[in-house]
Amino acid sequence: MDIAIIGSGYVGLVTGACLAKLGNKVICVDNDSGKVSALKRGQIPIYEPGLKELIKGNVKNKRLSFSTSIKDAVKASEVIFIAVGTPDSGNGEADLTGIEHVAADIAINLKSYRLIVEKSTVPVETGEWVKRTITTHIKGKAAFDVASNPEFLREGSAINDFMHPDRIVIGVESKRARDLLLKLYRPLHAPIVVTNIKSAELIKHASNAFLATKISFINAVSRICDIAEADVREVARGMGLDKRIGQGFLNAGIGYGGSCFPKDLEALVSIADKMGYDFKLLKEVKKINEGQKDAIVDKIKGSLWIIKGKTIGILGLAFKPDTDDIRNSPALDLIRLLQREGANIKAYDPKGMVKARGILKKVTFCRDPYLVCRGSDCLFIATEWNEFKELNLLKVKKLLKRPLIIDGRNIYEPEKMRKLGFRYISVGRKDIC
Ligand code: UGA
Repeated sequence: MDIAIIGSGYVGLVTGACLAKLGNKVICVDNDSGKVSALKRGQIPIYEPGLKELIKGNVKNKRLSFSTSIKDAVKASEVIFIAVGTPDSGNGEADLTGIEHVAADIAINLKSYRLIVEKSTVPVETGEWVKRTITTHIKGKAAFDVASNPEFLREGSAINDFMHPDRIVIGVESKRARDLLLKLYRPLHAPIVVTNIKSAELIKHASNAFLATKISFINAVSRICDIAEADVREVARGMGLDKRIGQGFLNAGIGYGGSCFPKDLEALVSIADKMGYDFKLLKEVKKINEGQKDAIVDKIKGSLWIIKGKTIGILGLAFKPDTDDIRNSPALDLIRLLQREGANIKAYDPKGMVKARGILKKVTFCRDPYLVCRGSDCLFIATEWNEFKELNLLKVKKLLKRPLIIDGRNIYEPEKMRKLGFRYISVGRKDIC
């Protein structure tokens, strides 16, 4: 099929590259001409395992191209995905300016039937607005459909998530739209949930909010474990083996971050408020998430006593492993909280340092984890990269000023750390002192 993807950010690029791999002819559009030129030269603006190779291969066999022209893309493609950003507008609501502009631009260029699909995460009822916007701006009499097809891929495993989804959700209002999307996704052999547009929009927001709730739930349980000296990982495993609960998203840590959960939770609370429902549960989920960072700072204070003037080594800046994305990263929030207490910060991340340099002030960025350890008063694990799980801990111990590790992601075994002679403080597990 001929496909256009408007918006070449995370979701747009991965969707475009994967749909091309499935045999479609895809044009990825972006209004940032610098980004489009770079993509044409084979430079990918984000780090995502496997994406560069996938894009390169599909460009080579002419199934994938890049453009700044919505006009050309609309002309060439029967199905047009909107995958532009929907950032927080500052008051919790999603900023849908990008969606409106793109919908209007598509409308101006509509000459014959096109299916316009919302791929970006949007509040329920956005589909209605997209329809109205297109109807307002359309020049001729071309028929069109609007559909919703939310994306559930995770950064770091985006290609695998796209190619092997648990489910595909399509919100449609006509047989033609339904048939087109079913045809497009048939090669993935995944369960397809067909709903109306509003339900599809809500499935996405509700899914992210539910996953964030699971994380805050286990983080709250970790606080009880801290006091009761229970082990939150054992508690999570014991809970998660119940199929009704499930094992996923029960890792206690320093709180969720990234470009999706914090923003989508706010947006759902905000749309619920607008509709007259006070979604107190989600407000509490956010509060627990914020509180988790304060609890970690307390743990660091509890083990270092005075933070002012001490050097804290931080491993991990990205909001999760296998990405260079530092948007809403809890690691960055923690660094700022520690700096406010007067700490000197040394940091390392395998992929996140280029972006972090542009944002963080007064941080010494190191070339490798061991340079972070050298002369630091303690080591703090903020992101669970495999590289950190495989460190030579004896070397780490020698390099640190004192053998103290505060592990915000529970990546080491307490018993092993005790044997190695560390003071080891983790989340929701007994401290090794
Ligand atoms: C999330 C969803 O998982 C995807 O399904 C969705 O498509 C995406 O948002 C989106 O809306 O675009 P992502 O933000 O890439 O994906 O990352 P996740 O793997 O969900 O992690 C989010 C945050 O939760 C990270 O900070 C991670 O460290 C944290 N987390 C995750 C935990 O603290 N504990 C866990 O058990 C799992």
